[in-house]
Amino acid sequence: MGTDGVIVGRGAPILLLTGAGVSAESGLGTFRDAGGIWSRYDLADVATPEGFARDPALVQGFYNARRANMLAAAPNPAHRALARLQAHWPGAVTLVTQNIDDLHERGGSHDVIHMHGELSRALCAACGHRWDAPAEMHASDACPACGAQATRPDVVWFGEIPYHMERIETALARAELFVAIGTSGAVYPAAGFVSEAAAAGVRTLEINLAPSEVADAFDAHLLGPASEVVPDWVERLLAG
Ligand code: APR
Repeated sequence: MGTDGVIVGRGAPILLLTGAGVSAESGLGTFRDAGGIWSRYDLADVATPEGFARDPALVQGFYNARRANMLAAAPNPAHRALARLQAHWPGAVTLVTQNIDDLHERGGSHDVIHMHGELSRALCAACGHRWDAPAEMHASDACPACGAQATRPDVVWFGEIPYHMERIETALARAELFVAIGTSGAVYPAAGFVSEAAAAGVRTLEINLAPSEVADAFDAHLLGPASEVVPDWVERLLAG
C-alpha cells in the first residue's frame, strides 16, 4: 500500500513527530516562519534557564500569553485526523510532539509524548514537584509541595534535556514508517530522528508547508497546509 511513495504494510508500526506547523492553522504561531515567535522575542530571554534566572517574571509572562492563546485556540482537522489514525490503524501509532500546546489531546489523541513539555503543567525548580498549571503563573507563586518561590512552566528550554527520549528511541527502533509533520528540522534531537530512522531502514515521509531543513533525508514528501494534507493522507492510509 502506498503512502505517496512510502510503502508500508497495513498495521505497520508508525512513529509521528509533529511541530508548530500542525498547530499553525489553529492560530498558534510557529517559531521560524516570517513573523514567527523568535522574530518577536529573543529566545535567550524567554526559553533558557539563564533567561529564567535573570528575569522570571518576563518568562512567566511569555508563557502566560502562550497559555492564553492555547486556551483560546481549537484543534484543526490535522489534529483530528491524527487522532483518527491512532484510533483506527491496526498497529501501533506513537505520537511524539515538540509542541507544548494541548491541541493533540483536545483533537482526540491519547498518550501524546510531549518531548518539550507542556504549557498546561507547572514544575518547581527547587524540588521537582509537578502539577497542573494555573492559567496565569507568577514568579512569586509558591510550590504547593515545598513552598519555594521557584515555580516555572514545565517546558524544556534550550540547553535542557528533552523529555521521554528513551520511549522515543524505543518507538523509533520499532517503527516501519516515520512521519514528520509541520516541523522545520531546525532543533535537535528531534531534527535527527529522520536520519536515525533512515539508517535503521525505516521508511520516512515529510508532511510540511515547505521543505524543511532536513527534507533531503526523507524518502517522500507531501507539501501543503497540514489541515488539508494530513486528513487526506490519513484517509488514504486507512482506506489502503
Ligand atoms: N501546515 C504545515 N506546515 C506548516 C504550516 C501549516 N499550516 N505552517 C507552517 N508550517 C511549517 C513551516 O514550513 C516550518 O517548517 O511548520 C514548520 C514550523 O517550524 P518552526 O517554527 O521551526 O517550529 P518547530 O519545527 O516546531 O520548532 C521546533 O524549536 O523553538 C523550538 O521548542 C521549540 O518545539 C520548538 C522547536
